[in-house]
Amino acid sequence: MHLLPLTGSFAAEVLEINLAQPLTGKVVDQIKAAFADHMVLVFRDQVLTLEELESFALSFGSYGETPFIKTLDSHPNVLRVLREKEESGPLFGSGWHSDWSFQVEPPSATLLYGVEVPPAGGDTAFTNQYLAYETLSDVMKDFLRGLQGVHSARRSYGPNGTFGRHDPKSSMEIHGDEKAVKEQLHPLVRTHPVTGKKSLFINDVYTVGIHGMHAAESSPILEFLLQHSRQIQMTSRVRWAPGTLVMWDNRVVQHFAVDDYAGHRREMYRVTLAGEVPV
Ligand code: SIN
Repeated sequence: MHLLPLTGSFAAEVLEINLAQPLTGKVVDQIKAAFADHMVLVFRDQVLTLEELESFALSFGSYGETPFIKTLDSHPNVLRVLREKEESGPLFGSGWHSDWSFQVEPPSATLLYGVEVPPAGGDTAFTNQYLAYETLSDVMKDFLRGLQGVHSARRSYGPNGTFGRHDPKSSMEIHGDEKAVKEQLHPLVRTHPVTGKKSLFINDVYTVGIHGMHAAESSPILEFLLQHSRQIQMTSRVRWAPGTLVMWDNRVVQHFAVDDYAGHRREMYRVTLAGEVPV
């Protein structure tokens, strides 16, 4: 396999690999090393059954838990991320976020496999949270050390959240509930368990405060950090085609599903892998 970096700082296409074939331990190790280096890996032209998608995903860990959204009856660890062409409600994933960061052990990685994609649009954008941390001043790094972010699903899946009420017209079966108001603390700066590098661990959708601070104090700090994290030189963007599989590291990237393909259908299959308590 060969790697084609997508930007100067992160994300790469992985060329000359067929994921439908059983992979040798050596190839899995090469992919793990590439994942640690690039944080977002893009595999093109893959023809995969859901079983093959699951089998590939399980080379990198065990399944994570998918709350609030109904997964496939036939494959309980696979979520169909579907938007029909006539749909117009809020788009799943369309806000900067790191998957399920409100969980005690948020997922390490997500794999998303494109089956039907719009002729243009529907890209997924990513930010590099190592770079976001590394480019802060030493004074800001010292200030953030030891602080904990408050993460909650309430803005998305709480009773008053974006997806709080079940929408029978949505092709994804999303059921918000009271459990979404729960809060979970995670360090604002975490250390990656594989690379040992520090990154900012915040996101627009689920980071709702800083532990111990009044909202009037934490909001401008979070707003600064979030704006800082999505400067153009810290981002990359993947254009989908049928058969594209993208795997990203939720510990060190935020992502965003771009809502610009009204009138077109987009069908993807998503697997999340279990992570660890962020430290
Ligand atoms: C997600 O947030 O996992 C969905 C991303 C996408 O649909 O591009």
